[in-house]
Amino acid sequence: MKKKIILFLLACIAGMHIQAQQVQIRISTDETDLILQTAETGRLYQSYLGAKLLNESDLKNLKAYISRPSTDGSVVPRGWEVYPGSGAEDFFEPAFAMQHNDGNLTTIVKYVSHEVKEIDGNAKETIIKLKDEVYPVEITLHYIAYAKENVIKTWTEIKHGEKKPVTMSQYASAMLGFEATHYFLNEFSGDWASEANLSTQELRFGKKIIDTKLGSRAAMHAYPFFQLGLGQEVQENQGKVLAGTIGWTGNFRFTFEVDNVSNLRVISGINPYASNYELKPNEVFTTPEFIFTLSEEGAGKASRSLHTWARNYQLKDGKGDRLTLLNNWESTSYDFNEKILSDLMKEAKELGVDMFLLDDGWFANKYPRNSDRVGLGDWEVMRSKLPDGVPGLVKSAKEAGVKFGIWIEPEMISPKSELFEKHPDWAIMLPNREPYYYRSQLVLDLSNPAVQDYAFSVVDKLMTENPDIAYFKWDCNSPVTNVYSPYLKEKQNQMYVDHVRGVYNVFRRVKEKYPDLPMMLCSGGGARCDYEALKYFTEFWCSDNTDPVERLYIQWNFSKIFPIKSMAAHVTSWNRAASVKFRTDVAMMCKLGFDISFEEMNPEDVEFCKGAVANFQRLKKVILDGNFYRLVSPYEGNHTAVMHVGEDKKQAVVYTYDIHPRFGGKLFPVKLEGLDPSKNYTVKEINLMPGRTSQLKENGNTYSGDYLMKVGLEALTSGQMNSRVIELTAE
Ligand code: DGJ
Repeated sequence: MKKKIILFLLACIAGMHIQAQQVQIRISTDETDLILQTAETGRLYQSYLGAKLLNESDLKNLKAYISRPSTDGSVVPRGWEVYPGSGAEDFFEPAFAMQHNDGNLTTIVKYVSHEVKEIDGNAKETIIKLKDEVYPVEITLHYIAYAKENVIKTWTEIKHGEKKPVTMSQYASAMLGFEATHYFLNEFSGDWASEANLSTQELRFGKKIIDTKLGSRAAMHAYPFFQLGLGQEVQENQGKVLAGTIGWTGNFRFTFEVDNVSNLRVISGINPYASNYELKPNEVFTTPEFIFTLSEEGAGKASRSLHTWARNYQLKDGKGDRLTLLNNWESTSYDFNEKILSDLMKEAKELGVDMFLLDDGWFANKYPRNSDRVGLGDWEVMRSKLPDGVPGLVKSAKEAGVKFGIWIEPEMISPKSELFEKHPDWAIMLPNREPYYYRSQLVLDLSNPAVQDYAFSVVDKLMTENPDIAYFKWDCNSPVTNVYSPYLKEKQNQMYVDHVRGVYNVFRRVKEKYPDLPMMLCSGGGARCDYEALKYFTEFWCSDNTDPVERLYIQWNFSKIFPIKSMAAHVTSWNRAASVKFRTDVAMMCKLGFDISFEEMNPEDVEFCKGAVANFQRLKKVILDGNFYRLVSPYEGNHTAVMHVGEDKKQAVVYTYDIHPRFGGKLFPVKLEGLDPSKNYTVKEINLMPGRTSQLKENGNTYSGDYLMKVGLEALTSGQMNSRVIELTAE
């Protein structure tokens, strides 16, 4: 009896309820419940995913699945099995498929046990073990629920004990089920200089797949995140929205399938394309993490949940500061010398930024890197261009009074390089076909541990010789081409997966040895932006397209998933028709940087930039760590506006942009969000051109948060590419 009571209490502590052989597992944040439940068969189903249920006593009413009578009178279980394998009675897309040693293609897993662990006080990890009763296959599901941030992170481990290796043809991270009247998908697609374009479609019967097959520059055409409007199109401030993203810097796949009873399943994971994975006995295959948040108040709330979660738990140095910088790529390209760089370092100091960042073109001697066609792999400083080497540059930066950062691309190799001459078998390249070059380069075979050592040594050597290097920009300009790993030989099916795992080994080693080193993730613009890579990078480069008008859309869309402090934005000379003020005001809504020389600006612009940098430095706690609100969508008119609100709601920064207003177009007041209605805020326009006074009607006045959120600011204008930055300070 005593034992039974103890068992019951233990079960309650673990958040499960036992009713006649039924196990219920409640995975909750403060706002969302994901409830899993076993059926009589022992198979595990998703019985609820939605807003948190208020009464514990209601949980007993939930069912594992809904039995549907079939035409022959038998009862068919129809529901969402949590991790459906192939070959069961569910005729839609499975999460998992494996061929067993005897050739059988079916796997059906049943509940074995589960446990719940506390993590960091605010998060709980639920670990569920499932197994097949016919074949020795074990599936372990992991869910970490972050209570306050309302985010759930889930992944799966797969293991078997068959005599010989088995082949997996599907191995998703997770599957979620939904039942709504309509499903609307927001997906993001792009290319170089045209990142993260939004498109919306209604999902109807059948499948919609978002995937990539690019291998390394993985998100060049499709982005590893989506928003799902349940019952209605995704709206900013109302409606049920699921925002989901996969942490995998390689080929990923999201499958959205609406079935015969109008239910939707969303399966997220590695793209199994050309990747039937051979799993050895007792080897554990760990899938990437799928991260999601369910908002009952639209996309804005979903973004803020992800932002806070990322800053608190996922992003490298998520709570730390960020360095403002001056980069030289746009102003010099490959054409620089020590004098040009040291002059730029002085300009960086004068601007007031923290660091000078040297871009591509500083290395290789036999095949000097004076263009993108040669030299990748030869990470020795180019003596003809920079006779004093990297130490000389670090010294000049120190003399100028700024930190020094440097660009690298360690995962790549130029066919014209000493590295290639020495190690031709280190490149991913077909032994029996004419090579195809993307940006005149090849991808290194990072499934090979020797190549991983080499890639790690690129950072390690630079850091050992120059411990004062303060920052790396880590680029990755080519997708995997000539798909063949010399290292994996006959196991080419493992290439796409093992390559990415090799990349992570390198990232991990760099982070372990240099935990405080800030790093920018870059991939020919923004083709790498996922939450696994961001464990190792403090920020990512959103796009080489720094035309401020284009950036308004690009930043708008990336902000749906990634926190502001992870999004690098630079002022450049793209779109000279836009004023330097407009370009700066656009970059300042993210992690501000510059990639422009004083030669490209007039003295008034330079003065303006100095003031903007000072404002950014003063307000960066609010900008980088505050809550971000998208106020006016650039997709809905000729204006856009966003704002940051400090955690304590005492300060806020509002940005309004007039893109291309129509003649006589109505100028609506911009209604603010996230303020404290009972606080009074003084309104002050900042980032004014030298000698100009604010024309903002409300400038200098004080209003309640309530007024500013209900009535708003008359901040929009009919000017072309006109912008305003407005600081709000609570009294
Ligand atoms: C692509 C990046 O996006 C650019 O910012 C620049 O670093 C170039 N590569 C250098 O080759």
